[in-house]
Amino acid sequence: MHTYHTPLDLVRSRHVENPVVCARPDRVEHASHWFQDNFPGEVLYAVKANPSPWILQTLHKAGTRFYDVASIPEIKLVTEHCPGARMAFLHPVKSRESIRRAYYEFGVRIFALDCEAELQKILEETNYAKDVTLIVRLAVSNDGAIFSLAGKFGVPAYEAAELIRKARAHAEELGVSFHVGSQCMQPSAYRSAMLEASRLIVQAGVTVDIVDVGGGFPSIYPGMTPPPMDDYIAAIEDAFEEMMVLENADLWCEPGRALVAECESVLTRVELVKGDALYLNDGAYGRLFDAAHAKWPFPVRLHRAKGEPGAQTASFRLFGPTCDSMDAIPGPFELPADIAEGDIIEIGMLGAYGTALATDFNGFGTVERVAVEDMPWPSMFEVQPDQADDTEATVISFARARRRRPRLRRRA
Ligand SMILES: Cc1ncc(COP(=O)(O)O)c(C=O)c1O
Repeated sequence: MHTYHTPLDLVRSRHVENPVVCARPDRVEHASHWFQDNFPGEVLYAVKANPSPWILQTLHKAGTRFYDVASIPEIKLVTEHCPGARMAFLHPVKSRESIRRAYYEFGVRIFALDCEAELQKILEETNYAKDVTLIVRLAVSNDGAIFSLAGKFGVPAYEAAELIRKARAHAEELGVSFHVGSQCMQPSAYRSAMLEASRLIVQAGVTVDIVDVGGGFPSIYPGMTPPPMDDYIAAIEDAFEEMMVLENADLWCEPGRALVAECESVLTRVELVKGDALYLNDGAYGRLFDAAHAKWPFPVRLHRAKGEPGAQTASFRLFGPTCDSMDAIPGPFELPADIAEGDIIEIGMLGAYGTALATDFNGFGTVERVAVEDMPWPSMFEVQPDQADDTEATVISFARARRRRPRLRRRA
């Protein structure tokens, strides 16, 4: 990757035709070191957040040795880019072929499940192996998170004790896990989930070797400043102390967003200005899926190749390059009022679920990747305690904004 000091240096030094992903390797290193130094247990990177080889290599170099994978292609990526890494197959629903290949071809020994049928699949496809670690995923409240992951996975409380007991009978090591929802704004959500897990373990009447508190650790976006990361660690540490029947249990977490959100932005070119609508060369089918579909408030700034933009700003809507009416990002985004064709908008904080969700739809998949050395947006690892928003109000207002989603239109 070629390195520029800043994205503006790039824009001023050469022609930029396709979207450019700006990588910030120091942000990945910083986040990886922070979690290794501060989380009182094992840290697994949730590969789904961003499977780019440069990120896997940087995390590995920075000491991350344990990965949460959800498919054989993710297992292959980790095998290739993170030599010697340990992997946990934490997707609660796996194909029989992928269980078999993970166990026999790639040496994976850790598998998640949230129902008896999946337990049976794991047992059958590993030939009732005696060396598996089974992680029972529990359904927990996602009320403290901006992005709920409830409703698809997790054994409900009324069935959990029975499943924990059944898994215990076949596991060399047994764990429980949950996901409090992505971009969790309230550290207390981890505590509530852990105490609920404790209650279910007591009800099951068995010992548990691992408590995996999942992902959900937040990053800072406009209008969404969470409490400091230290508060999350403190809440988890306190709750772990309080959990019953866990004398020798290990603590794990699986951050995705928090490890990589800060490390990528995209430079996208304005192809046309039509009133308050800016037509760009990246969009909902590229790196801006969450901006379009989840109304995620990413930070923006303008880079102009020649001359300076005016000081006055205006509100704009963004449209991506495809012929699809859903390729629209209502924003609004505040940008210089004199924005013009050929200007470059940098959209920040796209490291998590930006690159990972991008497609080639309509032929618009080509991107370049460069490294840059600046970090213009606030980092979660440097936030001051008094900067946090009223997190309950933030969660409610984002949920409301999302319910006001415009009607979807058919593809053009
Ligand atoms: C099992 C599992 N672990 C971890 C994560 C990462 O979550 P986050 O990016 O919110 O940290 C996810 C996200 O979907 C997940 O499904």
